[in-house]
Amino acid sequence: MSVKKHFIKKIQNKQVTIGVIGLGYVGLPLVIEFLKKKFSVIGFDNDFNKINKLKKNQSYINYISLDSLSKKQIENFLPTDDFSNIENVDVIIICLPTPLNKRNNPDMTYINNGLRQMKNYLKEGQLLILESTTYPGTTKDLIYPLLAKKKFNIGKNFFVSYSPERQDPGNSNFGLKETPKLVSGATSNCLKISHKLYSMIVDTVVEVSSLEVAELTKLYENIFRSVNIGLANEMKIICENLKINLYDVIDAASSKPFGFLPFYPGPGLGGHCIPIDPYYLKWIAKKNNVDAKFIELSAKINNSMPFYVVEKIKSALKNFNKKIRKSKILIIGVAYKKNVDDTRESPSLKIIQILNENNANVDYYDPYVPFLKQSRNYKLGLKSRKINKHMLAEYECVVLLTDHDILNYKLIKKYSKIIIDTRGKFKGNQINIFNA
Ligand SMILES: NC(=O)c1ccc[n+]([C@@H]2O[C@H](COP(=O)([O-])OP(=O)(O)OC[C@H]3O[C@@H](n4cnc5c(N)ncnc54)[C@H](O)[C@@H]3O)[C@@H](O)[C@H]2O)c1
Repeated sequence: MSVKKHFIKKIQNKQVTIGVIGLGYVGLPLVIEFLKKKFSVIGFDNDFNKINKLKKNQSYINYISLDSLSKKQIENFLPTDDFSNIENVDVIIICLPTPLNKRNNPDMTYINNGLRQMKNYLKEGQLLILESTTYPGTTKDLIYPLLAKKKFNIGKNFFVSYSPERQDPGNSNFGLKETPKLVSGATSNCLKISHKLYSMIVDTVVEVSSLEVAELTKLYENIFRSVNIGLANEMKIICENLKINLYDVIDAASSKPFGFLPFYPGPGLGGHCIPIDPYYLKWIAKKNNVDAKFIELSAKINNSMPFYVVEKIKSALKNFNKKIRKSKILIIGVAYKKNVDDTRESPSLKIIQILNENNANVDYYDPYVPFLKQSRNYKLGLKSRKINKHMLAEYECVVLLTDHDILNYKLIKKYSKIIIDTRGKFKGNQINIFNA
C-alpha cells in the first residue's frame, strides 16, 4: 500500500494522533472537535496558565467549553508545553498568532518560534498543516526551507498543507463543523491526506488548487469585510450630514435578493483578523510592486472611527453645555464584537485611551470582560463596573460600543443622561441620543 493510502486509512480508523500548536481561539475548538470524534490529541502551548487550566479540564475562553466531552474523550487529550511530544504525533496543525510588527508589516515571530521548537522532533510520515492567517507564499517561505534541511521529500515521506481557519467567534449557526473548510496541499498526496483529515470533523471540505490560493482566499474574505465596513462607516458620516438614518437605508437595501450584502458601521475594527489582514495583503502587494490603494483607504477610514466617536461625544456634551474634560463617561462594551470576551485590537481600548488623553473620567461596563489588563499598546488597567439605574445616572455620557445581546437596553435608555450609540441600537430621534 502506498504511503498516502496508508495515511488515509489510519485517519479513517482514527489511529492518528493530532498535535495542535497554539491552544487559543483557533487551536482549542480544533482540539475539541478532534476529541469529539475520538482522536487522540496533544495540544502544545507555551502559556503555563492555559496548560494548567486545560489539565484541570477547564477552558479559559468564555464561549469555548470542554463540558460536552465525555470522560474518555478528555482522557485522550494531553495539553503540554513540551515540544519533544511532536515525535508522538502524526499530524501537526499550527494555530499560532500572526500579528503585525511595529511597522504594520507581517510579524512571523510566533510561527518561526513554533517551527524552531518543533524542528528537532519532526519525523518522516507526518503531515504538517498551517492554519494561521498569513500572506500568500508563507507556507513555502517558512516551512519548505526547514523541511529541506531535514532532507524530507515533500509529498512522498512528509506532507504539507495550508488550511485557513474561517471561524466567526460567537456565531451559533456556523461553528467549525458547519463552516466549509478550505484545504490545499503542497502536492496532490498532501491535498488528499489533509482533505481526509478535515472530512473527519467538518461537514464540507473544499479543495483548492494551491497553497497560495488557500492563503490568499482567507485574506480576501477578511478584506472583503473590512472594505465593506469601511464603506458603511463612510456612509454613516455622509448620512449624518444628510440627516438620513443609515440603518433604515441598510434595511431597505437588504430587501434586494441579489447584488447587495448588509454591512454595518461601528466604532472601528477589532479582533485578530479584520484590522490586521489588510496590512498583510498591502505588504505582499508592495513587495510585488503594487499599491493596494483601495484596501489602504478603507483601513484608513476604519482606523479613524474611534476619533470620530470621540468627536461625537464632545459635541453631544457641548449640546448640554458640558466639556469632555473631567466629564464622567461610561463605556458600554469593550469586547471587539458582541457576545465574546475578546478585546484584542478592540476599538473600545483606543476610544478609552483618547478619552483619557482628553482628561475625561472613564469607566466601563462589559458583562464578558471583568478586567481590562495592561497590554502592550494600552496601559488601561480598569475593572468593569456593575450596571444599575443609580450608577447610570452618575455619568454625563454613556457610550455604547459593543452591542452584546445580554445588555439591558431598556435600562440604559431610561437612566442615561446622554447616549452615544455606535451600533444603531437606539433608533429614533431623541434629544439625548446621538448616533456615532
Ligand atoms: N480568533 C479568530 O477568530 C481567528 C479566526 C480565523 C483565523 N485566525 C487566525 O488564527 C491564528 C491564531 O489566532 P488565535 O486567535 O487562535 O490566537 P490566540 O492568541 O488566541 O492563540 C494562539 C496561542 O498560541 C500560543 N503560543 C504563542 N506562541 C507559542 C509557541 N511558540 N509555542 C506554543 N504556543 C504558542 C499562545 O499562548 C496562544 O494560546 C492567527 O493567525 C489568526 O489570525 C483567528
